[in-house]
Amino acid sequence: MSFPIRPFHRPRPRDVLHCDGAPLPKLAKRWGTPLYVYSADAIVERFGLFDNALAGLPHLVCYAVKANSSLAILKLLSRCGAGFDIVSGGELERVLAADKRAAGRVVFSGVGKTAPEIDLALRAGIRVFNVESEGELELLSERAGKRGVVAPFALRVNPDVFADTHPYISTGLREHKFGIAIEGAPALYRRARQGRRAAKRLRAVGVSVHIGSQIRDPAPFGAAATRVAALVRALRADGEPTLRSIDLGGGLGIEYEGAPWDPQERVAAYAAAVRAGLGGLDGVELLLEPGRFLVAEAGALLTEVLYTKQNGTKRFVITDAGMNDLIRPALYSAHHGIEPVAPGRKQKETVDVVGTVCESGDFFARDRQLPRVEPGDLLAILDAGAYGASLSSTYNTRPRVAEVLVEGAKARLVRRRDRVRDLLAPERV
Ligand code: LLP
Repeated sequence: MSFPIRPFHRPRPRDVLHCDGAPLPKLAKRWGTPLYVYSADAIVERFGLFDNALAGLPHLVCYAVKANSSLAILKLLSRCGAGFDIVSGGELERVLAADKRAAGRVVFSGVGKTAPEIDLALRAGIRVFNVESEGELELLSERAGKRGVVAPFALRVNPDVFADTHPYISTGLREHKFGIAIEGAPALYRRARQGRRAAKRLRAVGVSVHIGSQIRDPAPFGAAATRVAALVRALRADGEPTLRSIDLGGGLGIEYEGAPWDPQERVAAYAAAVRAGLGGLDGVELLLEPGRFLVAEAGALLTEVLYTKQNGTKRFVITDAGMNDLIRPALYSAHHGIEPVAPGRKQKETVDVVGTVCESGDFFARDRQLPRVEPGDLLAILDAGAYGASLSSTYNTRPRVAEVLVEGAKARLVRRRDRVRDLLAPERV
């Protein structure tokens, strides 16, 4: 199979925009807009890049479910042999609904795991709990004791590594709420090993770390790997017998704007930094938790232009999608490429592309040069496969949009559009 570098493309310059072999207007006609469209090949290709770059190093790529938790995508990745990084009981149920045999490939992250979530994960038999506080370790020990099982855990340490990204998605500094300070980790491992009850209920199987998201420079990942490898060496010297995994979290970034770039090169640089950081540490399996890198560019949000209008000096393009469908521009001032689906009209104009929600923050682009568009035209908001649908809401009582997975030239609905009655169903008057 030859893989697409960019799933959203025009087979010939005067063609409409396609997702792999599927013309977008056909999908819009069949399932309406707004519509999330994903390329299965692009996701499989990305997963393969990690697997290739890590060849020779025992590893498991655990897809971060939060990036896009569509059951169809989870199933697709599970078939490739992926593991899964979850942060809630709900995400665990999703993974099991997609593949009931995947539990052994699940790592459970998150600062606020509840007792019922821990119970669910113990019952399912997940691979490892990434524990983020002393209190959580105590709760895990207690719940494991109740079930009469031994809970496999890794401490998520905070390596105090700076990563240059948006402040809302940087996580590896001491001042962040995540993980436990790396200096405090050995004492906690010791307590788990030597505590009278804890020793019977907990098994330390690794160390984990996650320094943030949308990090494009490989260096901070290398620095985190160095610190974690040093910790593992120290823990082994301290008599920690069962440590066998290092989880380096997710976070590898993509290019939302600018010149074309090579994802294969980026993964290779990332893998090289990580290998160097580990410095030949043996007897460990590497776990990674990429989310965005696997799915962002595989997805677009397809939307129809409802109106165009001029307010003072500004020209607005009003689409049928809104910030509830894709919140990244509003929340992080994130840039998303926008392309008219029809081949471009020659005339360009500078516009704000906005949604229908009653907030001025509801925009997809500001002062963006686009070919002139008219009501009824379709736009593709690109790189929306990660943190798009999964971060969507029903604000303004707007039904969540439908999602379509393209496999080659075939497209199938993998989530139907909400009906308003789905939204009202849980409520009582
Ligand atoms: N592992 C852990 C423990 C995480 O917290 C995250 C993301 C990941 C893995 C996956 O990171 P990725 O490979 O996708 O960068 N909503 C934001 C991103 C939030 C990321 C939160 N944690 C956005 O739209 O940019």
